Amino acid sequence: MTPSKGRRLKGKPAAESRADMLQVVLPNDTNLLGNILGGTVMHLIDIAGAIAAHRHARSYVVTASVDSVDFVHPIRVGQVIRLHAEVTRAFRTSMEVEVKVYREDYITGECRLTSSAFVTYVAVDEQVRPIPVPPVIARTAEEKRRYREALARRRHRLALAARTHHRAGRKA
Ligand SMILES: CC(C)(COP(=O)(O)OP(=O)(O)OC[C@H]1O[C@@H](n2cnc3c(N)ncnc32)[C@H](O)[C@@H]1OP(=O)(O)O)[C@@H](O)C(=O)NCCC(=O)NCCS
Repeated sequence: MTPSKGRRLKGKPAAESRADMLQVVLPNDTNLLGNILGGTVMHLIDIAGAIAAHRHARSYVVTASVDSVDFVHPIRVGQVIRLHAEVTRAFRTSMEVEVKVYREDYITGECRLTSSAFVTYVAVDEQVRPIPVPPVIARTAEEKRRYREALARRRHRLALAARTHHRAGRKA
């Protein structure tokens, strides 16, 4: 059922949106040095983040923006890439999702954070019109911190998007 406009939706715990994805890095995913391609990591970030957003909104979602992504450590062919995604906060129709990327070496058992990103998804109906999403209930201290900080990140990204689109509009 699509949530109707104006209806106040019941909050959902952040933990209910959690999504984990694992994949072995195969030669086709890597560059000539045998390290996973940045574009492949970004693709997987988008998929893992979208699953968390779907779980929260229980609707179609589209990606509205991706904050900066750094690649701090390489993930090598034969290692496992593990992604953990969770909705940090929902606004009216949009949700911020934090995606963390780890590399896991199945021989040594070493697990290390390699990247993290905040991705914004917008819940939409079949005509790709934005629709309201339930508020996030933050329960743990960590969830509350991420929830609090999400507001400043949203203000920053919307201001940046407005400046970028304004500049692009002037050039066109
Ligand atoms: C995302 C999209 C649905 C927003 O549509 P819109 O006409 O700008 O709708 P609105 O102005 O009502 O904004 C809807 C929500 O998107 C958010 N939003 C819009 N642009 C955003 C951006 N650059 N970054 C983060 N959030 C953004 C708004 O803040 C709003 O959130 P809120 O309701 O929680 O306050 C529309 O831009 C779109 O369809 N984009 C293409 C999505 C897509 O195809 N993604 C795949 C990769 S190309």
